[in-house]
Amino acid sequence: MTGEEINNKLSQLTPDEIQQNLITASHMIDMDDIVREGFSTLREVASDVTFPLSDEDIILGEKMLQFLHHSQDPVMSEKLGLRGGVGLAANQLGLLKKVIAVLIPNEPEFDEEGNEIAPKEAYKMREIMYNAKVISHSVQDAAVEGGEGCLSVDREVPGYVVRHARVTVEYVNKDGEKKKIRLKDFPAICVQHEIDHTNGIMFYDHINMNDPWEIKDGMLVVK
Ligand code: NI
Repeated sequence: MTGEEINNKLSQLTPDEIQQNLITASHMIDMDDIVREGFSTLREVASDVTFPLSDEDIILGEKMLQFLHHSQDPVMSEKLGLRGGVGLAANQLGLLKKVIAVLIPNEPEFDEEGNEIAPKEAYKMREIMYNAKVISHSVQDAAVEGGEGCLSVDREVPGYVVRHARVTVEYVNKDGEKKKIRLKDFPAICVQHEIDHTNGIMFYDHINMNDPWEIKDGMLVVK
């Protein structure tokens, strides 16, 4: 399906219908579940989820994380036709709920002979976050080398996406526990991208369109 067809299809459904489809036991989220530019929820502020978490909201988070796993798996991504992703927000599924999933693989490690070996921890970050928000941040800015992409954006938008270099984020995990974490480097960038989605903000809102590759004083370029 084209992005326009997906947006048209999902705009016929109520949020409850969308969520029920997504959390059906046999359903695996794929690209046809992800709304694209032009769909209203990408530009709207999502509501906080309520606690204790409903089974529906727990399963939604699990399905979103499962999508990221599939998208990074060579066999499953090919089978389901997925673009690789490290983060997903419920706004991208047409739902105005503050639910995000993040899955950031660790870099491969090397043995003494220089052979690539699996890292001790497969993931740098693997989390389902409810009601996540940035509660404080560094003065220093940072941007990913080469710019950012988004599963809801079917085009390249070149330029540094200027974000905070370090953030403190508060959220509730899938067990209903309140968490406060400090993030830097790529995880900080990724989580800011996803929290932005829950507030109707797109990555290219942070690009200086007059000078997309400008490096302001002190801005960190993250590899
Ligand atoms: Ni995105």
